[in-house]
Amino acid sequence: MGGLIPDSFIEELLGRIDIVEIIERRVPLKKAGREFQACCPFHDEKTPSFTVSPQKQFYHCFGCGAHGSAIGFMMNYEGLEFVDAVEELARHAGLQVPREASSRPRPSAGLYELLDKAAVFYQQQLKDNSEAVAYLKQRGLSGEVAKDFGIGYAPPGWDGLIGKLGTDEKRLDHLRKAGMISKGRSGEYDKFRHRIMFPIHDRRGRVIAFGGRALGDDGPKYLNSPETELFHKGRELYGLYLARRSEAKLERILVVEGYMDVVALAQFGLRNCVATLGTATTGDHAELLFRAADEVIFCFDGDRAGRQAAWRALENTLPRLKDGRQARFLFLPEGEDPDSMVRQEGAEAFNRRLDAAQPLSDYFFEHFTAEVDMAALDGRARLVAKARPALEVIPDGVFRDMMFERLGTLAQHRLRSRASITSARGARQTTGRPALQRTPMRVALAHLVQDPSLAGSAAHDHDEALQGCTLKGFEIWLELVDFCSKSPNMTTAQLLELLHDHPARSHLEKLATWQLPGDDEQRAREFRDAVTGLELQWTEARIAEMPKIVDLGPEQKSELLALQNRRQELIGRLQGEE
Ligand code: UTP
Ligand code: MN
Repeated sequence: MGGLIPDSFIEELLGRIDIVEIIERRVPLKKAGREFQACCPFHDEKTPSFTVSPQKQFYHCFGCGAHGSAIGFMMNYEGLEFVDAVEELARHAGLQVPREASSRPRPSAGLYELLDKAAVFYQQQLKDNSEAVAYLKQRGLSGEVAKDFGIGYAPPGWDGLIGKLGTDEKRLDHLRKAGMISKGRSGEYDKFRHRIMFPIHDRRGRVIAFGGRALGDDGPKYLNSPETELFHKGRELYGLYLARRSEAKLERILVVEGYMDVVALAQFGLRNCVATLGTATTGDHAELLFRAADEVIFCFDGDRAGRQAAWRALENTLPRLKDGRQARFLFLPEGEDPDSMVRQEGAEAFNRRLDAAQPLSDYFFEHFTAEVDMAALDGRARLVAKARPALEVIPDGVFRDMMFERLGTLAQHRLRSRASITSARGARQTTGRPALQRTPMRVALAHLVQDPSLAGSAAHDHDEALQGCTLKGFEIWLELVDFCSKSPNMTTAQLLELLHDHPARSHLEKLATWQLPGDDEQRAREFRDAVTGLELQWTEARIAEMPKIVDLGPEQKSELLALQNRRQELIGRLQGEE
């Protein structure tokens, strides 16, 4: 998707906006030296380890490792795709996003506009239809919440919508592309007829699809828009836009099964609810949910189907349970759903149920221990055989270790997870990965990434001596020096976004988060030393490759001597001699 927007625009955009201002609007920042700090919005913490650098135009959390440019921040924080994040920032900066002519056109703005018009049309129809109004009243919906959710009504005729919005071939085609038209033997007709209409919004609040509930008994109870270029069920959640708009960072988010459940709960003041759209909870859903809140509560019917749906949700949640995130499960009494429940017992009682929801860990072990005979040794062995692979997908961290420990306790057997073996070796950072060792190459690259203007100076001091260098990473070094020399005023954020598709991007991103000396002079010295260190490594590699001294001809002998002298000189420089 990134390729659709020219790189030059990404560079311009990142040059125009200020990451500090973008983040500040969402996360209050405090000045700390050259940078800004806050408690990280991406994980739970009490002392701030989230830093934003105005120089680099880059953010980084030392606690959880989250990092990126303003674009990356918008993707992470607002749950946007790359293109949407760019558009959102461009709007903020008052810039128009240009499109590369050769590329596939984006889903035309026309499609969004049309769906928006359709939503307005349905809302108007609702006002004029007493049967539909009576239905909503009878279900207990307030006019206010119906308005908040943009609920409408599709008239019973065959071409109400087509007649209103499909007035020319182009618009008709948009209606088709948006999934609003069905095709029968005698032609095309409105897909949604005589139904209560729930508009489905994307994360930016644009209408991308509809769900329609039958008023009577004819046809399926709910009809949803098909998958279109704008709408992918597995990636959208009903109500997410409104839930996120109610508060910047939700404390918890509740996942229910139906449209009506979301709307009813909102009416009773629970505005942090979303529904999957008649599908199981996918991994994409889980990711979106955890971006919106650190705690996710899945609320399902207590019946078999509900249990099955809950287990699917659990399976797709486990790989995303980084430390600081938590999932819980609430099963309602047989025959009830959140809509009926909250109307019956009120918000307070419903909130108490939420507070008492079962932690994922309890649900997990309950599920497996119910299947085996825990009193028998082979039963316990079967528990391990079944539960262990499921636990392997949890990201490294305390939660993972605790789940393995608990499995061990239950099985009355000492278990070691992959992660606990690594942690026994002690080589782990808070991000769960071993720290990158500081080699001269990495240090040199880190400096360049963090301050591209360095490419002009010391970066070239060793060009000649480094010719033909085959050290690991040297190609990236050359490429980066060249890249930075051409636009030395780039920020780290611009550099990394321009290298979006570069194979070394994630490596360079890591280096962008390295702590370097705060003092300018010290930093310059460290950079110079790193490049000198590079040449030293290369010189040593060349010496090591020379044949034995007895086999050397006179020319090679003098080459070796020169290399050895150079080595001494470089070592001298690194030791601070002039
Ligand atoms: P439910 O059958 O539980 O309905 O479907 P509900 O949400 O309680 O609706 P009301 O209260 O009877 O009006 C839950 C969800 O499953 C999907 C819809 O997304 C619905 O909200 N569904 C259900 C369909 O897609 N098609 C159907 O025919 C039924
Ligand atoms: Mn219901």
